[in-house]
Amino acid sequence: MKKRILEMLRETSQPLSGQEISRRLEVSRVAVWKHISQLKQSGLAIESTARGYRLLTIPDTPFPWLFGPRSALIHYHPELDSTMNRAMDLARAGCPPYTVVVADRQLQGRGRMQRQWQSEEGGLYFSMVLRPTLLPRVCPVINLAVALDLVATLARCCGIAARVKWPNDVLVDGRKIAGILSQMEVEADQVAFINVGIGLNLNNRPEIADKPAVSALQLTGRRSNRAEVLADFLHRFEARMAAFSRADVLQQWRERTITLGRRVAITTLRDSCEGLAVDIDDEGGLILEMADGARRTVFYGDCFHT
Ligand code: BTN
Repeated sequence: MKKRILEMLRETSQPLSGQEISRRLEVSRVAVWKHISQLKQSGLAIESTARGYRLLTIPDTPFPWLFGPRSALIHYHPELDSTMNRAMDLARAGCPPYTVVVADRQLQGRGRMQRQWQSEEGGLYFSMVLRPTLLPRVCPVINLAVALDLVATLARCCGIAARVKWPNDVLVDGRKIAGILSQMEVEADQVAFINVGIGLNLNNRPEIADKPAVSALQLTGRRSNRAEVLADFLHRFEARMAAFSRADVLQQWRERTITLGRRVAITTLRDSCEGLAVDIDDEGGLILEMADGARRTVFYGDCFHT
């Protein structure tokens, strides 16, 4: 009911009377009043005058009812330890694909290579549960696709021109604006699910730790609407997955990366190597040309442009 009221208010800039809403929803005006009061309590700016109700601003908080037909798949929490943990529980319990867990802040946000991910309010932190019919070895290409769609969303919603860096960072002028972490479970050579967690620096001010980071707010001086950014990304990404083409992803990634053509150092928790990044392979691995001219493909690790 709240979702439908919100949809009606979003459709018009004019006040909508309680009578009109009750007529369209076939409920009493008292019921309408109660739902509006609850919407206001949850932080929505709704003006009530003699002429009716009017939505003053589109909420920034990613409340499920803002996501239209996708709302049942959105699990919003003001605070979580990590959206990855909640997504893992839901995935193991058999939730549908494209289930999304989103939190305003995380107490134990996780990054790649066992790092922490700063998760104070203002950033967008979410995990998606995916159930692709792909072989496990090609699933890293999904991370490349996520990075590409984040670049498109940042351009569309924030006016920011970002680029991708292998394996799956999104950067603006060498500073990280988004990171991607994925966890996969495989059963009998089939992907049971792959959970992709995304941290996007929007209205937060990330501190520079070991690597430079930046937010959309710091770049543009404007606040972004987190709910709109999330909706734009989910729409884009689901459309891409519905018509998934590995060749397209790889080609687009080659066009938008800052890694290829650079000398890079790749470190894992155990190993490191250096070379010239010449291409990515069909599974998303980075092909390096080593000092002796031999080629080596790396699939995992931290990548430093030297
Ligand atoms: C990286 O190291 O670049 C990956 C960062 C991924 C952070 C996101 S925030 C939402 C999700 N929950 C987590 O704990 N981590 C991911």
